[in-house]
This record gives sequence, C-alpha cells and structure tokens, in this order.
Amino acid sequence: MTATGKPARSAWSGKWAFILAAAASAVGLGNMWRFPYLAAKYGGGTFLLTYLLLVFTFGVSLLLLETALGRLTGQSAIGAFKQFGRKYAFIGILASAVPFIITPYYCIIGGWVTKYAVAYLVDGPAALADGGGFFTGFITSDVESYLWMLVFMAVAFAVVALGVKGGIEKANLFMMPALIVMAVGIAVYTLTMPGALEGALYYLVPDFSKFSPELVVGALGQMFYSLSLAMGIMITYGSYLDRKSSLTQSVVRVGGFDLGVSFLAGLMIVPAAFVAMGSGEAVAANSGPSLMFVTLPAVFADMGGAAAAIGFLFFLLVLFAALTSAISLTETCVSIVQDGAGWSRRKSFAVVIAVVVVAGIVVNMGYNGLSFIEPLGAGTSLLDFFDFLSNSVVMPIVALLTCVFVGWVVKPKLIIDEVERSGPFRLKKPWTVMVKYIAPVLVVVILVAYVAQTFGIVTF
Ligand code: PFF
Repeated sequence: MTATGKPARSAWSGKWAFILAAAASAVGLGNMWRFPYLAAKYGGGTFLLTYLLLVFTFGVSLLLLETALGRLTGQSAIGAFKQFGRKYAFIGILASAVPFIITPYYCIIGGWVTKYAVAYLVDGPAALADGGGFFTGFITSDVESYLWMLVFMAVAFAVVALGVKGGIEKANLFMMPALIVMAVGIAVYTLTMPGALEGALYYLVPDFSKFSPELVVGALGQMFYSLSLAMGIMITYGSYLDRKSSLTQSVVRVGGFDLGVSFLAGLMIVPAAFVAMGSGEAVAANSGPSLMFVTLPAVFADMGGAAAAIGFLFFLLVLFAALTSAISLTETCVSIVQDGAGWSRRKSFAVVIAVVVVAGIVVNMGYNGLSFIEPLGAGTSLLDFFDFLSNSVVMPIVALLTCVFVGWVVKPKLIIDEVERSGPFRLKKPWTVMVKYIAPVLVVVILVAYVAQTFGIVTF
C-alpha cells in the first residue's frame, strides 16, 4: 500500500529506470524535427537563449511538480487532480486531451522518417536532395504518405500490444547514445561547409531585435512538448516512482539531457540551412516542418560515397527516438481511456487505435484532399493547426492551471514535503515563487501579448 492508501502500482526498478524512461519519452521528434525548425524560424540565438532560460526555470520546476504530484497521489492525471476534489478533475481531463491531439500527427511525421530511412536505400541520396521536390511530392501523395503513416502506427501499436516495450527500451540504451554520436558527427561536418560558421553564429548569438511574443509562445510550447509536460505524462511516470529516488536530481538530469539533444540537433541543421539559403532572413522565412527533410538530405548528398549509409543510419536512429515517444504517447492514451471509461485494456486499446488511425488520416488529408483548409493562414496545414492547438493553446493553459492549483489551492508545501521525502530540496523557496507567481504570470502575459500581436492590437 502507498501512503495514500491506494494499492501499490507497478514501479520502476529505481531512479535510473525512471530517468531513462523519462528521457526516452522526452527525446523524440520534438528534439530532432521540431526544435531546429523553430530555432531557425525565430531568429536562432534569441530563440535558443529564451528556450534555455525557460527549460531551467519553468520547465524543470514543472517537471518536478508533475513527478511529485504523481508520486504523492499514486495516480495518473485525472485521478491525481480528482483526489483533491471532483471539481479539479477537469485539469487532468484537459491535460489528457493533449496526447490525443499529438499522437495522430506524431505518427504522420514518424511515417515521413520511416520513408526517408528506406528511401536512402531504395532511391539513393541524390534523389532526396532535390531542394524539397521529393519531400513535397511524398507528403502530398494520395497513397504513399498514408501508407508510411500506417506502417509507423502499426509498429508502435504492435509494440504496445505485445508488451515488448522492455525490449525497445533496452535497444534504446544504445540507440540514444548512437543518435547523439551521429548528431555530433553531422554537426561537425556541417560546420566545415563554406558559410556554415556564419550560420552557427546565427544559431548561437542572440539578436534581441528578433524578440517577439510569438517567439516566447513558440519556445514555451516547445518546452512543454519536448519535456512531455502539461499532458499528464510525467504525473503518470511519477506515480510509478518509488519514494527513495531523489526527484530533484532526476528531473534536472532529464531536463538537461533533453536540452542537450535539442541543442545538438539545432547545431546540425540550422547552419546547414544557412548554407543553403544564404542569410538569416531567408532561413527564418523558409523554415517549417520540412526543414529536417530538405536541409539534411542536402548535407548528406555532399558526403560522397558514404551518403546513403549515413542518411539511412541517421533516419533510422531518429525513427527509434520517434518510436519510443509514439509508444509512450499511445500507452498514455490507452491508460486515459481505461481509467476514464473503466473499460478493459483491450477495449480501450481498440478505441485508441481507431481514433488515432482516423484522426491521422484526416490530418494527413490536410496535405492533399483537404489542402484547401489553411487554418492558420496561407500555406498552413491541418498538421500545423493541431501542433499549434496542443502546444500553443492547450498546454500553456494546463500548465497555468496546474501551477495555480498547486500554488494556491493545495499549497506548495504538499509537493515540497513529497520531494523532501527522498532527499534535500535546496531550491524550494525559488521553486515556490516560480510556481505561485512567476509561472502563472508568465503564461498569462505571454498568451495575452501573443493574442494582441496576432490581432494587430500591438506590434513588437
Ligand atoms: N517529448 C516528445 C518529443 O519531444 O518528441 C513528444 C512526446 C512523447 C510527448 C511522448 C509526450 C509523450 F508521451
């Protein structure tokens, strides 16, 4: 029995198992695909610095809060909030909506990655490095793009269904370091290209004239997404954690590791984009979800005889990172349905598969049959819309509600006591200030400024 009187739950086999699982959930397409294109789009160094500051203040604080809340209540999101009163369950429900928004489009991009890994072997590196034609042709295709999405989904669902996640996690133990080694190698290679150093400066040196509310909303949403925050996942992971493992150390490790991988991915891609496009302005104007799939193939094609092998290996490793995240997303959806509807795991899983497949097909149609829908303005797709909805709307609101809930309703002491059960919490005062004041005010200010900017009420 746990201290809260609930039956004991399945548990991690110690601190490192938790750190590894949390890192495997954190490191994914968010780092390799999403972070670099946001950094490129929002002025390089300014975005990087904003992101760094956010991760080590707000991000780590929320990571700690969610993990401790999970460990304290021994429940996943909805149950955890409900334990303090039925009227708070809505925060958990809102958080639980996020994995359902993300999983379908995550699998679409997972499909792109799978296609690229295979294409390096089948079509060869030159075919992929044609300035974006290959990519556009593929994602707008009537059959192929759906097929690869379904292949990716099938693998993720099979792993969840067969319960062989342990095997994947073991494989991840060498896949993740391999991905990092490769990213370092590719970044070093990129930096030797003529003009790349200028690109590296664009990525590393902040230019404060680039600062805007949109940039901060982008960085904030990316932080939630990348650290798997504000969607109930870390609450669930915390609920599996034993009371001996130090929470503070663990969350700083997870946050630092995730940030490191994103930083490297940016170093690998942003300077290369700079080489291809010639100036910071051009990079910012042309950066979007396609960046990884257009810029990197151009770098690989430059590598001569090794190009096919390097391209294949790289996309294979990204595929692994994406797969572990997709598995964690799918499992989260299943347990939400299971807990929420009281259905068996089988039935819940069947429903999740149906929802994710149908939603995935609809979102993918945004690139062909439904491409006339441009929800966020000319040139945007349904995928952009769902990405925006989860990261820039729902997650900030969930984070705000969570901080207000802990800061003002149940009071920070509850979480501090939970953290201190397993070790000292030296920064509890700044943490309290963060959760009670800074984080909620920051989220409100950012959202208001952003809305004001979007509707042209103010210009920055
Ligand atoms: N953090 C993952 C990434 O950056 O790719 C995305 C994610 C994975 C979110 C798993 C949530 C999750 F459960």
